[in-house]
Amino acid sequence: MADEIVAVLGTGTMGLPMAANLRRAGFAVRAWNRTPAKAEPLADLGAEVFDSPERAVAGADFVLTMLADGPAVDAVREAVLGSGAVWIQAGTVGVEWTARFAEAAERAGVPFVDAPVLGTKQPAEQGKLVVLAAGPDELREKCAPLFDAVGARTTWVGPAGAASRLKLVANAWVVALTNATAESVALAETLGVDPRLFLDAISGGALDVPYAHLKGGAMIARDFPPSFATRHAAKDARLVLEAAGDDLDLAGTRAALAHLEAAVKAGHGDDDMAALYYGLR
Ligand SMILES: NC(=O)c1ccc[n+]([C@@H]2O[C@H](COP(=O)([O-])OP(=O)(O)OC[C@H]3O[C@@H](n4cnc5c(N)ncnc54)[C@H](OP(=O)(O)O)[C@@H]3O)[C@@H](O)[C@H]2O)c1
Repeated sequence: MADEIVAVLGTGTMGLPMAANLRRAGFAVRAWNRTPAKAEPLADLGAEVFDSPERAVAGADFVLTMLADGPAVDAVREAVLGSGAVWIQAGTVGVEWTARFAEAAERAGVPFVDAPVLGTKQPAEQGKLVVLAAGPDELREKCAPLFDAVGARTTWVGPAGAASRLKLVANAWVVALTNATAESVALAETLGVDPRLFLDAISGGALDVPYAHLKGGAMIARDFPPSFATRHAAKDARLVLEAAGDDLDLAGTRAALAHLEAAVKAGHGDDDMAALYYGLR
């Protein structure tokens, strides 16, 4: 494994620590990022940084894409497929883009793993993500060292597409929890109740969830260092609604999306998704 080469395309909040952990685990890492400065810290770990995706993927055994959305991944698709490396698609791009990438990979004869992750900046730094993996069974063993380097566990869920569907299910939960937390915090403030009393009241009981304290604490402090950007949470809420189609009434996701979009419009797109709070105001 130590000699295997991983090209990492996208070294943002998640891609950078994932690439660093791959390097620490002994992989040779070749990195590319649209804004080159964000990839530069990897050079200190012995990774090579390239100025184009084509150069980064040359000779790689794996290509890990950790880019913002479907169009960003699509922009590097030809480079990835041209490399012939196993394509690990880890960014959250939803059902339709994943199907397109899986089909393109199949046509090109390139092994493809749909591998979105659960967890945010800190778990990514700690190598404690949960990898949701979907793809051919014969790739499991080959991918295991890579996934072990970035994650605490890997859940294989079936053919490509299945992991992205599970990811959307989980992210519907994430945006719902954040929205519910924002509503209770904002309601407390409006009623003249200290919102910390709300967090204390639910603490340790059946109503408690760590996310309420994490995101609620940020809302109360009005401090939103980005862990998961508001604009990406809005993108994911849109992907959830698109995937759900017209026959399912996801009113909670729609409400969360409205708040997220209002927060983005108010200039909080790059803040942590807890800034959804501003969408209520
Ligand atoms: N943060 C989380 O908690 C988390 C958790 C699980 C999954 N995810 C998902 O993982 C993906 C990456 O998230 P992140 O938090 O790392 O986001 P991020 O910090 O915003 O990084 C996004 C990356 O995509 C690149 N990019 C954006 N548009 C591009 C384009 N048109 N062409 C080329 N590159 C482009 C960015 O390049 P620049 O640096 O040049 O902008 C950057 O490398 C997203 O799909 C997100 O939803 C995030």
